[in-house]
Amino acid sequence: MKEHSVKLSLLRHLASGEFCSGELLGAELGISRAAVSKHIKGIQEWGIDIFRVQGKGYQLAQSLNLLDATQIQNAVRNPVELFPIIDSTNQYLLERVDNLASGSVCLAEYQANGRGRRGRQWISPFGSNLYVSMYWRLDAGMAAAMGLSLVVGVAIVEALASIGFDGVRLKWPNDLYFQDRKLAGILVEMTGQAGAAAHLVIGMGMNIFMPENEQAIDQPWASLSQVAAGLKIDRNLLAIVFIQSLDQALRDYELYGMKDFIPRWNRLDNFIGRKVKLLMGPKEVYGVVHGINEYGAVLLETENGMESYIGGEISLRKAE
Ligand code: ATP
Ligand code: BTN
Repeated sequence: MKEHSVKLSLLRHLASGEFCSGELLGAELGISRAAVSKHIKGIQEWGIDIFRVQGKGYQLAQSLNLLDATQIQNAVRNPVELFPIIDSTNQYLLERVDNLASGSVCLAEYQANGRGRRGRQWISPFGSNLYVSMYWRLDAGMAAAMGLSLVVGVAIVEALASIGFDGVRLKWPNDLYFQDRKLAGILVEMTGQAGAAAHLVIGMGMNIFMPENEQAIDQPWASLSQVAAGLKIDRNLLAIVFIQSLDQALRDYELYGMKDFIPRWNRLDNFIGRKVKLLMGPKEVYGVVHGINEYGAVLLETENGMESYIGGEISLRKAE
């Protein structure tokens, strides 16, 4: 933990994007220049680009707009915890559901083990994106949890639009897309027993200022910085509007169900009217997307007529 705190102090000194010499950094932190160099290497392993220029010192490739727990907490009714480093914000909440108030939020600047669906990795460099999870207790039980990732997607896209980020769309069942590239992913995980309340953890990872040279993502991706060129991006404001919008959408869903969300989803569906394929293990189904139904299933017009598909094992892809 001490090791992390040195790296975090170094980052705070460099956050503005100005050059800072190794000597000065060492003096400020009470460590040697060699130790500064070692910690800088460690920071680079968190996915942050730092340059070293002879005679000038270290500089971040892009300035950092770090999250501020107090600012976020003051703006939302939900209990909020912010960690600089965590394995996974979803995992953190899942391990604590018995002691959390419904609506509790966990945010992190870096995830060492961020995850997507079916155990896939979510690339989570430090300070450049958003990683946020919310715990929600659903008294109606697990069956009512179907379709929830769709409700969350609608809430997040509408929250973005409310602060000027237009053009973000949804890919069934759990992705946000911008210009046919993945901007964000949603992961809903659950514990609980049949017949009892469901403990849901809803996680969202959104690329905000993903370093351009990110190589580890094996599909086309986008960052929010590309969505509204010129619009100032404030990560704290984004975290606040996402938490507020998610909280409201989950309350509405509990009270009124999916009904209201169907037209809202269909307006934002990236593939509506377009030809796609659904991958289900070895099986592929081709068809044209007609939005979603009241269970959260995707509607596909296939050669056999209109069909609905639902389930966590299905992946939707653009048909070539
Ligand atoms: P589907 O769930 O429909 O199969 P998917 O391929 O996007 O879609 P997910 O499990 O939803 O799969 O998401 C994980 C995938 O997302 C990873 O395998 C990787 O391709 C991609 N990915 C990982 N990190 C990021 C990121 N920060 N931004 C965009 N995409 C990412
Ligand atoms: C996906 O596209 O498969 C979903 C990606 C979800 C990533 C977020 S980041 C915050 C939360 N913590 C995790 O480990 N995963 C989710």
